[in-house]
Amino acid sequence: MANEFKRHRRLRQSASLRSMVRETHLHPEDFIFPLFVVEGATENNDVGSMPGVYQVSYNNLKKELDEIIELGLTSVIIFGVPEVKDPYGKEAYNDDGIVQKSIRFIKDYAPQLTVVADTCLCQYTDHGHCGVVNGGVIENDTSLELLAKTAVTQAEAGADIIAPSNMMDGFVTYIRKALDESGFPQTPIMSYAVKYSSAFYGPFRDAAHSTPQFGDRDTYQMDPANRLEAKREVKSDLEEGADFLIIKPALSYMDILRDTREETDVPLVAYNVSGEYSMIKAAASQGWVDEKAIVTEKLLSMKRAGADLIVTYHAKDMARWLKE
Ligand code: PBG
Repeated sequence: MANEFKRHRRLRQSASLRSMVRETHLHPEDFIFPLFVVEGATENNDVGSMPGVYQVSYNNLKKELDEIIELGLTSVIIFGVPEVKDPYGKEAYNDDGIVQKSIRFIKDYAPQLTVVADTCLCQYTDHGHCGVVNGGVIENDTSLELLAKTAVTQAEAGADIIAPSNMMDGFVTYIRKALDESGFPQTPIMSYAVKYSSAFYGPFRDAAHSTPQFGDRDTYQMDPANRLEAKREVKSDLEEGADFLIIKPALSYMDILRDTREETDVPLVAYNVSGEYSMIKAAASQGWVDEKAIVTEKLLSMKRAGADLIVTYHAKDMARWLKE
């Protein structure tokens, strides 16, 4: 009788036993906190579609950093919301742009914090696309020059990691070369290698004012139906010299995270995107789900699927809950 079936419940009998056999853990240093810095404002702006998320004004940065550090978070990813936009996204590579200024401030005030710079053009272009537009086409190679310039100004400002997110082919090659030639051979590249054309980005475009003014991003971001394509993207970015790989979005793409984990040995980052955040916030505000429990489960699942790090808007809440 005793050997007719397995007693899995033996290891689930008490909280102590369960904690002894737990395979995955969350730590504050697993999270990269997305920080939106807005130019030309003296107060923070709430983001309507993302309760709890706001654009931080430059003069409020110090206060924001105090909170982030106090919670035990160790890294941020910076997104700029510039005052002016133009067809070529000039503010993205302005030495005095809001992102460059903010990075300088952060590295001066809190040098222990790792600053990841999101390197893209969409918040800075008046058409909202991630590259140069010519006759309705989003050009690849002309966009690469601008991206490389953006990355160099970010590194000069003190960015610890460059994270190109615009999905032009060859961005790792171009940025690596530009960084090396500008005296930054030590600055790692965290590539958004696998970025799907996703409806889950909706609320972010609200937060970063980066909605495309015509068309969509389907000619550069990936088709959600594809799995093998992710393997090709991962392979080329590694060959080009990526130090970290980002998989984005996370929740609906756990299979891709797992595939990538099994095939590579670089640190993997899951991007728990805006739509994934807002859905939980909305349900929690109605009392339909237990926010702390569901966020903990979601972030644990991302690590279990293979992520080493998670970019998440829940970072502050989760760090707070981990302290409890
Ligand atoms: C822009 C960028 C996007 C996100 C991060 N960088 C959105 C997009 O492609 O429109 C999405 C982040 C999120 O939804 O949380 N290159």
